[in-house]
Amino acid sequence: MVLPMYIFGQPVLRKVASEINPNEYPGLQELIQNMFETNRKADGVGLAGPQVGLSIRLFIVDLDVISDDKPEFKGFLHAFINPQILESSEEMCDFEEGCLSVPGIHENVKRPKSIHVKYTDENLVEHDEWIDGFLARVFQHEYDHLDGKLFVDHLSAFRKQLVKKKLVAMAKGKFSASYKCKENH
Ligand code: NI
Repeated sequence: MVLPMYIFGQPVLRKVASEINPNEYPGLQELIQNMFETNRKADGVGLAGPQVGLSIRLFIVDLDVISDDKPEFKGFLHAFINPQILESSEEMCDFEEGCLSVPGIHENVKRPKSIHVKYTDENLVEHDEWIDGFLARVFQHEYDHLDGKLFVDHLSAFRKQLVKKKLVAMAKGKFSASYKCKENH
């Protein structure tokens, strides 16, 4: 089932989300499948709980969609439950980001190149590993959502000023997206 996307201006996107007990969370597998479906329909590479209105520490990443360009990601569809970032590399890199909750804005964001993470996957297996490259980038973007942060928060004062008008309009419901969205106010 495709879930409605929560767009910039929705308070849930600014909340610090809560951890869940994956053994007890009702309908967890169905929710994960719905998030994969919602993300795929919107042409995304990742989707976090707050983006579908759920203030829980869970996100999904689908890198299978870019496996034509990057064959190492063939079949990469994973959930990250209660993720943590334990360490970050000093080396940083720039990458142009967008977000399904912030339609129509794409900006360069500087983030650590590799990160040491812990999380529980969709099979409830715990992981403790270093990740880098595109996965590290998506992980950090989605992780931010769980702390109520959005990629536009990372922009310089100058770039923030340039996108401000669009964000104000978006919060009032003036935006266009090709996927189903929860109505803003
Ligand atoms: Ni996002």
